Amino acid sequence: MTNVLITGANRGLGFGFVEKYLGKNVHVVCTTRDIPSSKDLLAIKERFPNNLEIFELDLLKETAGGTLANLIGDRPIDILINNAGVSSTNQHLEAVSPKPWLEVLKVNLIAPLIVTQSIINNVKRGSEKKIYFLSSQLGSIGDNTSGGMYIYRSSKAGLNQLVKSLSVDLKSQGITVVSLHPGWVKTDMGGPNAPVSIDESIEGMMKVIDTTNIRDTGRFLNYDGKELPW
Ligand SMILES: NC(=O)c1ccc[n+]([C@@H]2O[C@H](COP(=O)([O-])OP(=O)(O)OC[C@H]3O[C@@H](n4cnc5c(N)ncnc54)[C@H](OP(=O)(O)O)[C@@H]3O)[C@@H](O)[C@H]2O)c1
Repeated sequence: MTNVLITGANRGLGFGFVEKYLGKNVHVVCTTRDIPSSKDLLAIKERFPNNLEIFELDLLKETAGGTLANLIGDRPIDILINNAGVSSTNQHLEAVSPKPWLEVLKVNLIAPLIVTQSIINNVKRGSEKKIYFLSSQLGSIGDNTSGGMYIYRSSKAGLNQLVKSLSVDLKSQGITVVSLHPGWVKTDMGGPNAPVSIDESIEGMMKVIDTTNIRDTGRFLNYDGKELPW
């Protein structure tokens, strides 16, 4: 049975992945910051007691990598989805300040690499050897015609650069590394005016995950499979 690991799984796209993968008879290992308040995860665990493992992980903690490695142990991970992410308010030129910026960089940029580093041996032991990062079109330099959003844009542009380096470093070991834009999606982050539903985004991204392989490593793809400019 395929093992998928998803971070930030208690709501939004993370929970969307959990629901859809469980429906496909996949074994899901997921992380959330606080298990007791992760009501949707606890409810779905009752329906799939054997196929869902829930671990507690706060990506703002400097010990997150070691914590995750201990929790995962020697389980093979076939597909790793680095999903957890945050945005910020006051992101225009006159308003940006270091403290909220650093918090976003810790979660969106540093943590995904530390997570990947901490369980890379588990991915090597997996049968699919695939790693996906939830980036954003807002991280694209080529697509930036509207400016602003300094904090979020820089975190996702940096993440894209990490994806590229990882894809180069891990190619010879047969590990596929891809950057994904989920669309502008109706979640707490995307807000109610977003045009794409969680279902549509997750179905699209799961198809991309299914159909990509080592030949696609180092690509930046939209949820519908289209190539995005870096
Ligand atoms: N929605 C969109 O339109 C959109 C567009 C482009 C890219 N994305 C990206 O897609 C991913 C998922 O977004 P979403 O829309 O599902 O966002 P969301 O609804 O705001 O959910 C974010 C998830 O990340 C978790 N998270 C935040 N900080 C964390 C931390 N320090 N440690 C562990 N988990 C943490 C949250 O957990 P808590 O509940 O504990 O906060 C939550 O599970 C993000 O990387 C986002 O940047 C989203």
